[in-house]
This record gives sequence, structure tokens and C-alpha cells, in this order.
Amino acid sequence: MNQDQLKQLVGEAARDEVLKFPSGQVLGVGTGSTANCFIDALSPHKDYFAGTVSSSNATTERLLKHGFKVLNPNDVQGLPAYVDGADEIDPAGHMIKGGGGALTREKIIASMANQFICICDASKQVLVLGNFALPVEIIPLAQGAVSRELEKFGGKVSLRLAKNTRADLNQTASEPFVTDNGGWLLDVAGLKITNPIQMEAQINQIAGVITVGLFAKEKANILLVSNAAGVERIAF
Ligand code: A5P
Repeated sequence: MNQDQLKQLVGEAARDEVLKFPSGQVLGVGTGSTANCFIDALSPHKDYFAGTVSSSNATTERLLKHGFKVLNPNDVQGLPAYVDGADEIDPAGHMIKGGGGALTREKIIASMANQFICICDASKQVLVLGNFALPVEIIPLAQGAVSRELEKFGGKVSLRLAKNTRADLNQTASEPFVTDNGGWLLDVAGLKITNPIQMEAQINQIAGVITVGLFAKEKANILLVSNAAGVERIAF
């Protein structure tokens, strides 16, 4: 099975997982290629939920295309679950997220949910977080100041650049990648994150940081992980 098939498999498993909830509730939906597989798998059941809250403009667009109702998070009291992928997940359910740049809204929606259901293929499972460069969304004018603070954690900090020119996102290739919130992203490579709770709190304290892509406080409650043998369900 290739990686796309593994993502599809876990997307279908997540669909089955959320269809166990009573109908008529609002569901939180993540961002990325694995979350896209989940959205596609859930689309025949779009009316099972009263609506969705979305973690990015890209996800909103996909949900609307499938006919899901997308609600403003401010109009929603709470969510039974938030379903999203991860760039890395450790054995305790702490994650690195933000490879797609949607970390801030992802963390907000995750904080509204009773359960974070993480969906990924087995390549995302690690013993210690940090092989994947840690994304940090910042206020653009704080780039220099925040970079200097982040370097103290021992990693190599780089400003994320847009890969492609996209007029709809107001992005030009080789210029800073601009998030849905107008922020920039710093990626910190070479970290060994042995205490994710502490590092998340410390990076959150730096002036100019909007969100760090370390999901330790908002960690996964359930992991659905696919490999050649099928999908394993792990509860933390
Ligand atoms: C988006 O900003 C990320 O947090 C994604 O959830 C994460 O990068 C996983 O994406 P894939 O499912 O595409 O690997």
C-alpha cells in the first residue's frame, strides 16, 4: 500500500469513528492531505452532523464543495470531536502540527473539542518529537526578535517561503508564506523535544508568537494510525 492509500484507509476509519457519535452535533475538521481523505470519506454522510467548523480556508473550500455546512466557531458552544492529521506524534499523543501552515486555527478548534482524534499513517509516529521542523506562527514584524529567542532552544530557525505564486492567497513564490491569519511561519529544525508541555508553554511566552505548532496541552485523545496491516486505534 502506498502512502496515499494509507491516508485514505485512515480517513475511512475516522469516518466510522465519528459516525458513532449521536447525530445532529457539530464536528471540528482539520487541514492537510489526511484530513482531506477524511472529508471525502465523510461526504456521503454530510447531513449526519448539524455542521462543521473548519481549521483553514482550504478545508472550508473542500467542505463547502462537498455540501457540508460550515459554521462560524463563535456560533458554536462545543464540539464532540476534532479530527485532524499530524506531522509527528509521540507515544503520549503529543504532536507537531503546522506543516501546512494552519496551526493556529487548528489549535483553536482543537481547544473547543472534547476529543482530538488524530489520523495518520505510521510514518508520523516517533519516539521523540523534533525530526520534523517545528512550525511557529508569528507576527511578521517580530521575525528577528522571535528567531533569536527560538535559537536559544538549540535548533536552526528559518523563515518559511511560499513554494508557489497564488494570487488567491496573496502569495508570491520565494516571498514569505502568509498564513490564513496574515502571519508568517518560522520552522525550527534540529530540536529534540523531550518535554513538549514545557517547551509549548515557553515558546507561547515569547512576544510576537501567535501559536507554536506543538500540540501538547491539546494533545490527541485518540490516534487512528494506518499501516499495511490495517488501522490501529490507540486511546491516550
Ligand atoms: C496543517 O497545518 C497540518 O497541521 C497538518 O495537519 C499536518 O501537516 C498533516 O498534514 P498531512 O496529513 O498532509 O501530512
